[in-house]
Amino acid sequence: MSAARVRIAPSLLSADFGRLAEQLAELEAGGADWLHVDVMDGVLVPNLTFGAKVIETCRRLTKLPLDVHLMVVEPENYFDSFAGAGATVLTIHAEAAPHLHRHLARIRELGCKAGVAINPATSLEAVREAVPELDLLLVMTVNPGFGGQQFIAPMVGKIERARAMLDDARSAAVLEVDGGIARTTIAPCWRAGADAFVAGNAVFSAPNIGAEVRTLRALCADQA
Ligand code: DX5
Ligand code: ZN
Repeated sequence: MSAARVRIAPSLLSADFGRLAEQLAELEAGGADWLHVDVMDGVLVPNLTFGAKVIETCRRLTKLPLDVHLMVVEPENYFDSFAGAGATVLTIHAEAAPHLHRHLARIRELGCKAGVAINPATSLEAVREAVPELDLLLVMTVNPGFGGQQFIAPMVGKIERARAMLDDARSAAVLEVDGGIARTTIAPCWRAGADAFVAGNAVFSAPNIGAEVRTLRALCADQA
């Protein structure tokens, strides 16, 4: 069992943009740890979302650290502008980054935390050699591109193996999961060793989004 603290990261993708300031305040009041920002380019994933301007707006509207998930090809083209816009964490996809070490080093040089994400079908071996350079490892629990998809249950075993890989390397990296995280799926991921949980649909479809953050956190605490 991981002794790490639980981090709940609501995903901006599912927010109501007409009420963004209000919703971000509700998330803060509910104790959310990070705001997860999904950047998609329509190439690496079949959807388009946000650029630096939206990151800058979020930076102004909330004190929450901005956990920026780059689902884009050639992510290095965005490091400077996203760091400048106020990103806290920049996570790139292993599938889009053949030069992981160079990119992770550049992200850290810019003063951000450096993360790598892997799709459900990508082996952990794709990132093993880069573990010493990682502040965060993101194990996708859906194929990225859209909110509201169903959690891929066999990923729980992959989370266990990811936890073992980080522990074996004595890495302090955060182990984040993203996709289909909800009341029914969060506890198995926590037990498997994840310590950061992205939740889009589960939080934003709840009648009280701040309360839902507390509920998700409590479901992990119950297992401790
Ligand atoms: C999926 C994104 C996720 C998405 C999660 O491609 O990376 O961050 O917002 O949404 P839910 O929690 O609804 O699966
Ligand atoms: Zn994401």
